[in-house]
Amino acid sequence: MTSKPQDSGPRLIVALDYPEARPAEALARRLDPGHCALKVGFELFVAAGPDLVVKLQELGFHVFLDLKFHDIPNTVAGACRAAARLGVWMLNLHASGGLEMMQAGVQAVREVRPETRLIAVTVLTSSNAETLRGIGIDRSPGEQVGRLADLAITQAGLDGLVCSALEARALRTRLGASPWLVTPGIRPSGGGDDDQKRVTTPEDAFEAGASHIVVGRPITRAPDPAMAAAAILASLPAASKGLS
Ligand code: C5P
Repeated sequence: MTSKPQDSGPRLIVALDYPEARPAEALARRLDPGHCALKVGFELFVAAGPDLVVKLQELGFHVFLDLKFHDIPNTVAGACRAAARLGVWMLNLHASGGLEMMQAGVQAVREVRPETRLIAVTVLTSSNAETLRGIGIDRSPGEQVGRLADLAITQAGLDGLVCSALEARALRTRLGASPWLVTPGIRPSGGGDDDQKRVTTPEDAFEAGASHIVVGRPITRAPDPAMAAAAILASLPAASKGLS
């Protein structure tokens, strides 16, 4: 199933996994904001701060602030408010923080900047059944993903989920066409896997129901990052290519 929610921005999100601002900005300058959004995670944000986010947005990019908030509702609301004020396109939190925390986050974002999208992480792909048992959860990772997905989307009203492409088909069936499903662990066919254990091609991710894909090293370490991004876009189904 290929999903195309309204107003979904660039379908390709490039992960800027750098330890400081300079190489991140240099890479951004080699990319086309009409082709991709940029993901800023913990490492880069802790090192470079909001100034870099502002700079990337001035270059014309949509920014996904991947900070995975998880705290008491009031604190998460404050963090979401601050991110929305920065003007980011998308940000995220941990669904395991619970319904009240997610509702506080959504309300904060909607008040400050309704067009900013708030999505949730369910179960990290680094967690398995043993990890969950260790924190007192006796369900399988798949069951826990489903439960947290319902809580985030159906009950809290979030805009989407970060998920493995391998979970996308079941989540799309469970949640319907609207929620964004943002999938990392993507490798174009013929490329290496780096340290990713289970990878999916861009085409297969969209076919399974992803709305957006996150791609890092296959683009950031390519000799020509813009060409690598363009090649990935060219491989996608037509409905998934453009800005809406
Ligand atoms: O370089 P690569 O394409 O593997 O980068 C993937 C990006 O997506 C990284 O920023 C990584 O932290 C993130 N990510 C992931 N798997 C998850 C969640 C996030 O690879 N389950």
